[in-house]
Amino acid sequence: MTHKYRHIKFLGIIFLVALGLALAYFGFQKVHAPSPTSSTTPQKTNPAKPVFDKTRYSISDPNSLWVVVNKQRPLNPKTYAPTDLVVPNAPLRVPGNDSMQLRAETASAMETMFAAAKAAGDPLMVSSGYRSYNYQVSLYGSYVAAHGQASADTFSARPGYSEHQTGLAVDVEPLDKQCDVDQCFANTPAGEWITAHAYEYGFFIRYPADKVAVTGFEYEPWHLRYVGKELALEMHTTHTETLEEFFGLPAAPNY
Ligand code: DAL
Ligand code: ZN
Repeated sequence: MTHKYRHIKFLGIIFLVALGLALAYFGFQKVHAPSPTSSTTPQKTNPAKPVFDKTRYSISDPNSLWVVVNKQRPLNPKTYAPTDLVVPNAPLRVPGNDSMQLRAETASAMETMFAAAKAAGDPLMVSSGYRSYNYQVSLYGSYVAAHGQASADTFSARPGYSEHQTGLAVDVEPLDKQCDVDQCFANTPAGEWITAHAYEYGFFIRYPADKVAVTGFEYEPWHLRYVGKELALEMHTTHTETLEEFFGLPAAPNY
C-alpha cells in the first residue's frame, strides 16, 4: 500500500468512528428524551406525607419548646427559670407583675393570636403567664391551706411541676372577664374561638375535659401551652389532645 492510500484509509477510519459516535449520541438523546405525553401531563406527586419527626426537639430539656411537664415529669432542675422572659404587648390582668411574662417566642405567638381573636370580635387578655418556682410555692401553698392537698392537686401543680414555670404556658381570659379562669370560659365566644384556632398559632389546650386521667388535672379551657406551629398542627391533624399521648408517655394522674 502506498503512502497515498494509507492516508485515505486513515481518513476513512476517522470518518467511521465519528459517524458511530454521532449515531450513538443521537440514539441516546432519543431514548432519554421526554415523551410528548409526559411533557404535557402533570407529574404525579407522591401522596405519602413525610413522617413527623417526634425526636426533633427534647421533651426533657426545660428550655425545649416540646418539654413535657407533668406529675411524673418535674422540671429538671425543679427551680428552673427561663432566660428570655418578656412582657407581652397585650392586655394584662396584673400589669407590672412578674407572672405576666412569657418566653419571647411564646409572647410573640400569643400577640399574633390575640390580634386575630380581637379581629374576630373576641378580645383576650393574659390572666397568668410565667410563674417562678417560689411563686408556685406560695400559690400552691395557699390552695392547700384553703382546700386541702388532695383537692389542690387536682387543679394546681406543685412547685417544680408547673408548666407555668417554663414560660411556655399562659392562662387567657376574655377582656370582659366573663368566666375568667372558670370552665364556663369554654362556652364563651372567646373560649370557642380559642378552642377552634389556638393550634394555628402554635398553642393547644393542655388540660382537656376528657383527659383528666392522662394529665392529672381538671379541665382548664383557659390554660394554653405553646409548642410551636409545627407540633400544634400535627396534634390537631392527628386528633391527639395531650403531649403524653403524642409522645407515647405514661399517663400522669398522680405524683
Ligand atoms: N393549673 C396548672 C395545672 C398549674 O398549676 O400549672
Ligand atoms: Zn394555667
